[in-house]
Amino acid sequence: MPPFFLYDFSLSRASAPAKIMLFGEHFVVYGSPAILGSIDRRIRVSARRIESPIINIRSDSGFFASFATERLEKPGPNFSEAQNVMYPLYSAIYEVIRGHSNGNEGNLGVEININSDIPWGIGLGSSAASCVATIAAVGSLFLEPDRQWIFTRALRAERIIHKCSSGADCYVSTFGGLIYYVRNGKNRKIRSRRDLSLIVVNTGIKHSTKVLVSLVKNFRDENTALFDRLATSATSICEQAVTALTEDNQVKLGQLMSKNHTLLESLGVSNEDIDNIVGFCLDNGAYGAKLTGAGGGGSVIALIPDQCKTEFVSKISKKNSCECIPIRIKSCGLLRY
Ligand code: MEV
Repeated sequence: MPPFFLYDFSLSRASAPAKIMLFGEHFVVYGSPAILGSIDRRIRVSARRIESPIINIRSDSGFFASFATERLEKPGPNFSEAQNVMYPLYSAIYEVIRGHSNGNEGNLGVEININSDIPWGIGLGSSAASCVATIAAVGSLFLEPDRQWIFTRALRAERIIHKCSSGADCYVSTFGGLIYYVRNGKNRKIRSRRDLSLIVVNTGIKHSTKVLVSLVKNFRDENTALFDRLATSATSICEQAVTALTEDNQVKLGQLMSKNHTLLESLGVSNEDIDNIVGFCLDNGAYGAKLTGAGGGGSVIALIPDQCKTEFVSKISKKNSCECIPIRIKSCGLLRY
């Protein structure tokens, strides 16, 4: 045992949760509210200071990318696939180092290790969580960052991935809990009377949030009046959902989820596979089901009576050979340690 405890300022760790969007995806980009919750799946990031002008990022998804700290390298033909994937994180890390290196960036770098139990590209907010955890870990090498500091930078990084991001995913991953979120608005925690019994069904189809958000933008540009009507309905569904959550009215909550799915179908972000899974969930006892996140693939969430959960998972896994992930909404957002 060392005679006294020495805090190692050259190493820090952070973790951030995945999320599910219960209501309001896509409409939230244009100012309508959304309800989302942080869940019990996390990304863990460790950051270590090194005395070389490089930023190394390694992920357990198999990617490894190395970048310079002396100047911000821009994506181009010389970038590897891993560098393209890691560029948003690199750019955020670069900004933190530049801001805190006191002109010593020629001799300062970081090594980042990312471990995740959030499946990528299925609508659970893996990219937002990786931005939040990475910025928290790197920021902690230089200062005591607060959640707002981390959220602002994580959102900047996420907007490199898709520039219209509403900020909802980064917000819930940073602050945690069940959140009523309005872009640039006043966000608040919702107190649900009990744990929601939710299941995520992975369609197995990877999606790109950027592509789907731009598809909705085109839809909105070409059908402005219709989009506005759908957005008004989405807002009303969210308001009713807050009441259903606080009154613990699961039947109503489920109906609202299914109504929200119909709106997303009208936007064109659902497809036959998703609709079949939603239909299957409803035929097998779910109170309600909908796609969650950007759509086009990704995941469906279903609200299931607690007592039916085991039977439901076995039925749906057999029928659709889909991965089922029982999840819980957890109140803890970002953690630094
Ligand atoms: C993606 O998880 C949610 C979207 O509404 C995009 C966003 O809010 O930035 C589709």
